Amino acid sequence: MYVIVNQDTCIACGNCGANAPKLFGYNEEGLSFVKIDGNTGTKKVKRRLRNDLLYAYEACPSMSIHISKKPFQTDK
Ligand code: F3S
Repeated sequence: MYVIVNQDTCIACGNCGANAPKLFGYNEEGLSFVKIDGNTGTKKVKRRLRNDLLYAYEACPSMSIHISKKPFQTDK
């Protein structure tokens, strides 16, 4: 499973890092990013972190966390 945060819609509520501190960090504006791959959605989430990821996903009020079975395509 892969994950990426849409920082255009993140409202810096902090739920994701509270649920999955190993996966989500915050930039200087308080916007979330995925720590394991620099928010590129290209590194597989370890199996033991998947429950945390799903809790974070469900707890995000702006639905800014996107998960996929395949790596995300980024133009970075
Ligand atoms: Fe942003 Fe959602 Fe996390 S609003 S801070 S991505 S829970």
